[in-house]
Amino acid sequence: METKIVKIDKEDFKKEDLLGASQILKDGGVVAFPTETVYGLGANGLDEMAVKKIYKAKGRPSDNPLILHIGEVDQLDSLVEEIPDIAFRCIDKFWPGPLTIILKRSHKIPDIITAGLDSVAIRMPEEPIARELINLASLPIAAPSANLSGRPSPTSGAHVIEDMIGKIDVIIDGGDTGIGLESTVLDLSGDRPMILRPGGVSYEELKKIIPHVIEDRANLESKEIPKSPGQKYRHYAPKAEMIVFQGETEDIVKTINERIGKYIYEGKKIGVMATDETQDRYSKGIIKTLGTRKDKRSIATKLFKVLREFDELNVDIILSEGVELDDIGKAIMNRMMKASGGNIVNC
Ligand code: TXA
Ligand code: MG
Repeated sequence: METKIVKIDKEDFKKEDLLGASQILKDGGVVAFPTETVYGLGANGLDEMAVKKIYKAKGRPSDNPLILHIGEVDQLDSLVEEIPDIAFRCIDKFWPGPLTIILKRSHKIPDIITAGLDSVAIRMPEEPIARELINLASLPIAAPSANLSGRPSPTSGAHVIEDMIGKIDVIIDGGDTGIGLESTVLDLSGDRPMILRPGGVSYEELKKIIPHVIEDRANLESKEIPKSPGQKYRHYAPKAEMIVFQGETEDIVKTINERIGKYIYEGKKIGVMATDETQDRYSKGIIKTLGTRKDKRSIATKLFKVLREFDELNVDIILSEGVELDDIGKAIMNRMMKASGGNIVNC
């Protein structure tokens, strides 16, 4: 299949630039587009045949449900059975933005979206390209992250081209995504509000709106079985073995340096994921900084990009500094835990 690449300037584009892509969505095609979190792989969420193409392009297991993306809140009514009061409060505060809300599904939604569950995940992205595209199509758009299943999520048009060229109809290249990690998935379909995946909206922020919100323990513990189907798979994984080091920064630096010595001796090619504050403390290996520890959002933005860079450099082992668990730190550590297959060293 020939994939059309459409370059769009986020800061300066016209509705007309997205008309072709929105028509392809209406006609049952697949379009990758930027959101503020990561790129999504979109298709008409009410068309089973179109959604099947997403699973095929990604190589995604069919028991992993998809998020429906909407452009306006009034699209929500026909997709869910009811909207509880706390959902309204979250919508007021966080939409459009990096929060996905799970509610009881309406029967309008094909089973392929929900993987047979009685709930559905919905989000309204903030990125203007995404919203304009959804509104032009005037459809709920099913969109998982636009990576091949198992790979780090795409945070630039180039990443999507790498994974999806020849597999889908259109790639809208809108440059780098801002947040760089996926949305927070909040389940409001059960008895107790629960965070199934930490993401762009932090636990602390959610707690201000829903004081009794709880977190799925599997988010940060590799041995727990996650409640969200998609969270059980190995994810975001680089080709290399990856080890994450957590604890006090000084202890992390010391332990990583010891490991560098060991692996160099074994003849391995090493990549180190460091931070601005620590990158000069490592003498050997390929050192890349994720960003500054003073602003963890900078680290979130670059994480998937650096994982892909190490893939290209064909390193054997990635040694990654961990971060503290406040703000977006939980989402960063969750992705690092999954990328490393739970290979975490406490320093
Ligand atoms: O930021 C994001 O959320 C990106 C952009 C493109 O919007 N999308 C994204 O989609 O990350 P995906 O498919 O890669 O991750 C969706 C997650 C999966 O872990 C899936 O299992 C979970 O949401 N999920 C979807 N529907 C669910 C449901 N009804 N119940 C529980 N988990 C659900
Ligand atoms: Mg994904």
